[in-house]
Amino acid sequence: MKKIVCKNYDELSKCGADIVTAQIKAKPDSVLGLATGSTPIGLYKYLREMPLDFSNISAYNLDEYYPIEKANDQSYAYFMNDNLFQYITVKSKDIPNGEAPDAEAECRRYDKAIEQAGGIDLQVLGLGVNGHIGFNEPAKALSVGTHAVDLTESTIEANARFFANKEAVPRRALTLGLGGIMKAKKILVLASGKNKADVVKKMFSGEVTTDVPASLLQLHGDVTVIVDEEANGEA
Ligand code: GLP
Repeated sequence: MKKIVCKNYDELSKCGADIVTAQIKAKPDSVLGLATGSTPIGLYKYLREMPLDFSNISAYNLDEYYPIEKANDQSYAYFMNDNLFQYITVKSKDIPNGEAPDAEAECRRYDKAIEQAGGIDLQVLGLGVNGHIGFNEPAKALSVGTHAVDLTESTIEANARFFANKEAVPRRALTLGLGGIMKAKKILVLASGKNKADVVKKMFSGEVTTDVPASLLQLHGDVTVIVDEEANGEA
C-alpha cells in the first residue's frame, strides 16, 4: 500500500481529486466506486470543478442506510446528489436502495449491476473510527457480497452527529462486502483528523484482522492511502 501524507484536509482533498481525475482521463468510461461520510466531501468539491467529461462514467456507491427514504437529507442518495451529481452529468449512477422492500433481493441486484458494468475501476473509501470500510463493521467473519448489516453502537454514535439525535440513526445498512471492495482494480482511501490515526496505523501494521476490516486492504495490490498529518499521527 502506498501512503501519501498531506499537510491538511484541503491538500488531501485536492490530491484525491487529482487521482480520480487521472483515472477518468486514462479511461473516460471508468466505473467509479464512490463513498460518503464527511471525508470525501472536499474531494467531490474539487472534482466537480475540474474541466472533465463525466458523460461516460458509471458510478456505484458503497453503501446506504436501511431502511431510509431517498428524500431523507441523511440518506447517502441525498448526499451524493447534494455533493456531486447535481453538478455533473454521468452516464449512470447507482446506490443500494434504502427503500427496497426486500433487502436481500436488492443486494443481489446491486452485485449483478456492478458485475455487468465490468467491475469497479477505482474505489474511493473513507475509514470508520472502528476500522470499518463501507459499512463492513468489525466482526468475527466478514461478508463477501453486498449485504444488510446491523450497525455497531460505535458507528451509530459516530454518525449521530448528522442526525437530529442518536435515536434517529437507522440501525441497519446495505453495504458492498469485502469481496466487492477487493475486486476493485484500484482503491483510494482517504483519512483525515486525529481520530483516524489509530485505524491508519492498524491498516499499515502488517497484520490482517476482521476486527479492523480496513486492515484487509493490505492484501490488495493497488491501494493508495491519502492521510493528512493528523491522521498520520504527526499532529
Ligand atoms: C460512514 C460510511 C463510511 C465512511 C465512514 C467515515 O459510516 N458508511 O463509508 O467511511 O462513515 O465517515 P467520516 O468520513 O465522516 O469520518
